[in-house]
Amino acid sequence: MKLLLLGSGGREHALAWKIAQSPKIEKLYIAPGNAGTRNVGENVAIKADDFEAIKTFVLVNGVNMVVVGPEDPLVKGVYNFFKEDEALKNIPVIGPSRTGAVLEGSKEFAKEFMMRHNIPTAGYKSITADNLEEGLAFLETLEAPYVLKADGLCAGKGVLILSTLEEAKKELKEMLGGMFGNASATVVIEEFLSGIECSVFVLTDGKNYKILPEAKDYKRIGEGDKGLNTGGMGSISPVPFATTEWMQKVEDRIIRPTVEGLAEEGIEYKGFIFFGLINVKGEPMVIEYNVRMGDPETESVMLRIKSDLVELFEGVAAGNLNEKTLEIDERAAVCVMLVSGGYPEAYDKGFAISGLDEVKDSIVFHAGTAVKDGEVVTAGGRVIAVSSYGANKEEALAQSFAGAQTINFEKKYFRSDIGFDL
Ligand code: AMP
Ligand code: GLY
Repeated sequence: MKLLLLGSGGREHALAWKIAQSPKIEKLYIAPGNAGTRNVGENVAIKADDFEAIKTFVLVNGVNMVVVGPEDPLVKGVYNFFKEDEALKNIPVIGPSRTGAVLEGSKEFAKEFMMRHNIPTAGYKSITADNLEEGLAFLETLEAPYVLKADGLCAGKGVLILSTLEEAKKELKEMLGGMFGNASATVVIEEFLSGIECSVFVLTDGKNYKILPEAKDYKRIGEGDKGLNTGGMGSISPVPFATTEWMQKVEDRIIRPTVEGLAEEGIEYKGFIFFGLINVKGEPMVIEYNVRMGDPETESVMLRIKSDLVELFEGVAAGNLNEKTLEIDERAAVCVMLVSGGYPEAYDKGFAISGLDEVKDSIVFHAGTAVKDGEVVTAGGRVIAVSSYGANKEEALAQSFAGAQTINFEKKYFRSDIGFDL
């Protein structure tokens, strides 16, 4: 099979690494990919949301399946683009339809969906400039801290958590006034939930589903979970508190009602669902849905999937995922992210990266890298994910930290406390 993977981050390198291991793969293309993905497939200089260029490439090269990494092309409707095109309609796209992608594309839609299907989540109110007064009154009924979420996609920056009522009221007005452009024309005000977060991933054909290994992501830039939010500084899998009993609650109260809810509402969904959960006194609740895999969770999760991922994708496409097996590696897997100094604020790019080939006991996934004059250089905030296996997370982390020391570039930074809190 010839498979085209869309995207260019650490998630896509990890997916490409796993896909390339399948004996079913004759050719793997990554559009646009990064300096790492070219080692497991062929990079194609096409943006992940340039649908016309993707169409031409798919037809000229006889691509048999498209797998979508990031949310952007999904929210823009790449699934529908294929289904509605005479020449493309029989080529499976792994990813939800445009309507399915709204689970991530609109926080208000996601909350309403959860209400309709009795899925546990924080209490909320959805506010626009027209009912601002209602929003201010709702804030008064809540206790600090206050959670404000821009309804639309904001590249992970649309959630504000405020410690005083005064700030919350001020920020609500600013969000509605265009702080995130049109994405914050509607704001979801939520009850604050206190607990530890866990990312749970499912692959579904719209009817059947497989639960992939769960992971925990470390979002803050600083050690001890301090400082600004980032795209993710590392991840571990499994998550110690995600016991069999807890995962059973997740499946019964959250996963099954979500997959059944999508089917009942006639929403076509053949792809990954990412449940951003929080463990509130032993009870799982949904913080958010994403319609793709997580990054940097994928850089741990892919290591723990023993089965052929492409065969699972075939099950997704054919609607017989229930006939496929998902075997999970019992070992722990972790990843430690090397980032550019200054990230998530301003940082410089273009620094040469050394030591990549000297890391022997970890898997090095590229995130923000590029090739310049034949040399691998930094090209983003998150640069490299160093992923490792271990009999337990401590062993895996020791490997990843060793790898993180071996790879170097100017102003390299990483958190050396990933996984230490659990
Ligand atoms: P989201 O983009 O919805 O995942 O929100 C970003 C982050 O804000 C989450 O990963 C949580 O750490 C935090 N957050 C979002 N909603 C809540 C909530 N209701 N209570 C506590 N923390 C939240
Ligand atoms: N790691 C969180 C995300 O991918 O959104």
